[in-house]
Amino acid sequence: MNIPVLKFDAVIVGAGGAGLRSAIQLSEAGLKTAVLSKVFPTRSHTVAAQGGVAASLGNSEEDHWRWHMYDTVKGSDWLGDQDAIEFMCKKAVEVVVELEHYGMPFDRTDNGKIYQRPFGGHMSNFGEKPVRRSCAAADRTGHAMLHAMYQRNVKANTQFFVEWMALDLIRDSEGHVVGVTAMEMETGQVVIFHTRATIFATGGAGRIYASSTNAFINTGDGLGMAARAGIPLEDMEFWQFHPTGVAGAGVLITEGVRGEGGILRNASKERFMERYAPNAKDLASRDVVARAMATEIKEGRGCGPNKDYVLLDITHLDPATIMKRLPGIREISIQFAGVDPIKEPIPVVPTCHYQMGGIPTNYSGRVVVPKDGDYNTVVPGFYAAGECACASVHGANRLGTNSLLDLLVFGKSAGDSAVEDLKSGKAHRDLPKDAADFSLARIDAINKRKGGASVHEARLAIQRTMQDHAGVFRFADMLKKGVTQILEVEKMVENLEIKDKSLVWNTARVEALETENLIEVAKATMISAEARKESRGAHVRDDAPDTPEFPNGRNDKEWLKHTLWHREGNKIEYKPVNLTPLTVETVELKTRSY
Ligand code: FUM
Repeated sequence: MNIPVLKFDAVIVGAGGAGLRSAIQLSEAGLKTAVLSKVFPTRSHTVAAQGGVAASLGNSEEDHWRWHMYDTVKGSDWLGDQDAIEFMCKKAVEVVVELEHYGMPFDRTDNGKIYQRPFGGHMSNFGEKPVRRSCAAADRTGHAMLHAMYQRNVKANTQFFVEWMALDLIRDSEGHVVGVTAMEMETGQVVIFHTRATIFATGGAGRIYASSTNAFINTGDGLGMAARAGIPLEDMEFWQFHPTGVAGAGVLITEGVRGEGGILRNASKERFMERYAPNAKDLASRDVVARAMATEIKEGRGCGPNKDYVLLDITHLDPATIMKRLPGIREISIQFAGVDPIKEPIPVVPTCHYQMGGIPTNYSGRVVVPKDGDYNTVVPGFYAAGECACASVHGANRLGTNSLLDLLVFGKSAGDSAVEDLKSGKAHRDLPKDAADFSLARIDAINKRKGGASVHEARLAIQRTMQDHAGVFRFADMLKKGVTQILEVEKMVENLEIKDKSLVWNTARVEALETENLIEVAKATMISAEARKESRGAHVRDDAPDTPEFPNGRNDKEWLKHTLWHREGNKIEYKPVNLTPLTVETVELKTRSY
């Protein structure tokens, strides 16, 4: 079949924060750059980020990148790579100031500096007390960030392909990545983007869970494409449950609410976090707060007729502060919870929010795979940044506001690496003759199949399995059953049928293709979680002994290592954690408490 070929120096898949940040580097370096996005760029999921971006500017009180690094390593439960964490925390100030210069409308302090608020797990002086590190534009930081970076890209002549879905990675016989296949969602036309650099910035896959703060577009497309192309996925057992999703709706209520003084209360109005984290209280790390909430609910101290949520209380705050710093939260509470938080507390539950794992990269944004005993062999022509990538700076648990920082720092470094690699001016490598065959066969099969499951049935099965078997608390037998069940669901997905033949904007076909990506992420998660026989960060199992030798169930002797899940044969292997920072001493292993 004759498939149109579009030639670019670089293609970036995804127009959220990481994609837009890397595109700026490439376009401003004069490279011909395409950005593909399923939605208009400023509607990418980064738009939903509320509370801020972490950087130790020290605008309101003393702060230091080394304290930020310490907090990030501790937050990761020591699973983060310390070279990448040092790189990120050091670069934070630079990338935030750049954003300011792009025109980002940050809130201001009285003396005109960028406004900063406290966030969970961010502390001063190596864990002493909460510090104001999160640089915020009210409770709409991601929204402001996307607009600033989109405009910068327009100025730099980045070419946007809006409502285009990437389908598959194209690798040549030597394993070099030479582009992607993609589908124009309106027409169904499949096209090859033939490139010298391919950057994945496709975001997360929170839609594998039934209750999620993630947008409907977050279907793990980059992870599905990478897995099908033989790239393993790293640390997929670690999923962050944000403590405060609106009960019953899952919509995010920013941790910035607690940063501004909000308090979590149980049915007896008790500030229960004082029992779980006497020092940081409501501003402990997210996994700690989410587990405390789940425990309160499990032990019967939840609120409401079914005792199935807790309350986030800001009624003691000055209404003027709420209107100035948290206007979006007030709107969300009124719309989705039916309460005005100035007068009444907000019902909240832990909700799936962020994927700590992803496509393995080094801190320069180059994708790395294991080969001949070396775990850091670069895949030529392939880069990844943001939530779809695993650098790994978040390890087993991410700190709030380090996500926007991650996408800025690693979006920029992936862009810089691509510019550096393309400087040699080498021509495009040849496309394989069958470059589009695999994608075309996938679409053809979906179009023709009869008698299979609908997309709705398959997605529900994925989401129920993940929610029931790999949630906030994990149980050995449930994980085992979860593996069997998700492999059953995979068979459903392999037999997907489009029931509604009256396709509107190819929506049904796009959703079927997305579901083929979701199942890869779900398998990677369940199989990696079942295999890790300890508790660490967001992965907590009932059978991991909590003893003086293994506090909180963490077992550094056997499990201080990254998981790599290979799609082929669902094989798991492990790679070492990098405990050696770039220039400073290692953050020594300790028991984690707040
Ligand atoms: O709570 C929030 O505003 C979310 C921030 C984050 O996930 O980094």
